[in-house]
Amino acid sequence: MDIEHSSLAGKNLIAIHDLFLSELDLIFDTTAKLKSVGRPLDVLKGKTLAMIFEKSSTRTRVSFEVGMYQLGGAALFLNTSDLQLGRGETIADTARVLSRYVDGIMARTFAHQTVVDLAENATVPVINGLTDLLHPCQALADLFTIMEKKGKLAGRKLAFVGDGNNVAHSLMVACAKMGMHFTLGCPEGYEPNAAVVAQAREDAEETGSEIRILNDPVAAAADADAIYADVWTSMGQEAEKAERLAKFAPYQINSDLAAHAKPDHLIMHCLPAHRGEEITDEVLDGPHSVVLDEAENRLHVQKAIMALTMI
Ligand code: CP
Ligand code: NVA
Repeated sequence: MDIEHSSLAGKNLIAIHDLFLSELDLIFDTTAKLKSVGRPLDVLKGKTLAMIFEKSSTRTRVSFEVGMYQLGGAALFLNTSDLQLGRGETIADTARVLSRYVDGIMARTFAHQTVVDLAENATVPVINGLTDLLHPCQALADLFTIMEKKGKLAGRKLAFVGDGNNVAHSLMVACAKMGMHFTLGCPEGYEPNAAVVAQAREDAEETGSEIRILNDPVAAAADADAIYADVWTSMGQEAEKAERLAKFAPYQINSDLAAHAKPDHLIMHCLPAHRGEEITDEVLDGPHSVVLDEAENRLHVQKAIMALTMI
């Protein structure tokens, strides 16, 4: 299959807010095509992706690496503790040097600014594979999954119950862009970043999406087409674990909470799950759960992103 040469060619994917609606539509269309074709292609033949990881990963690492292979290219796993970055070489120099070897860089970092600095200094596309602030590839795979299961996204409601974290931020902006309503139910003090909420509301004005931040999990889940969970303690927050476990306990997604959603609701989770904390086994493994489809769609959506940006 041919990959369309579009405004995404050479572009970074740092935040969904930076994308035009037409670019999101193209990513989703290309994802659907790549998923239906399935077999290995040669659209990125001879090209290489550098994958920088400051944090652990199962899905992101494997899906990007397999995705590059299936597009005819190769991927390099670079742990920051093995790079000279870990010994004080700057992000800017790392970005400039890697750009002389590879055709794209994917990075998972603590500080969001690290990915921004990489993108500013690299001359090849940089893809955000999760920062403390955002997780755009996850949100794109999640919306693609909802589209597969429910059709058109506009007017549907996604309820994120838990921490106003990186995954919540990217989902909120993605929903706003696509005209989906987004409600977050979180304990007081764990609300999403105000600047990201402002970006989502700006995008929502264009599409009629409603963005609501509540502290009541039941009100958040009410009438939702999809209920979404993520861990209560994200990578880097381990010292706060005990306090978070206590504060988030009323925000568990269990069958009582799910009963407030639409009868045909989807249960979503980016994974890894902490079973028995943010979500019960019964719900995670139940008939409404699409968590494995979300994980699989990371592969397809990231193949589309790489093919469109690294073409
Ligand atoms: N959902 C997700 O990004 O998973 P990993 O941390 O395993 O990459
Ligand atoms: N919010 C989680 C997502 C993991 C994929 C974290 O940042 O650890």
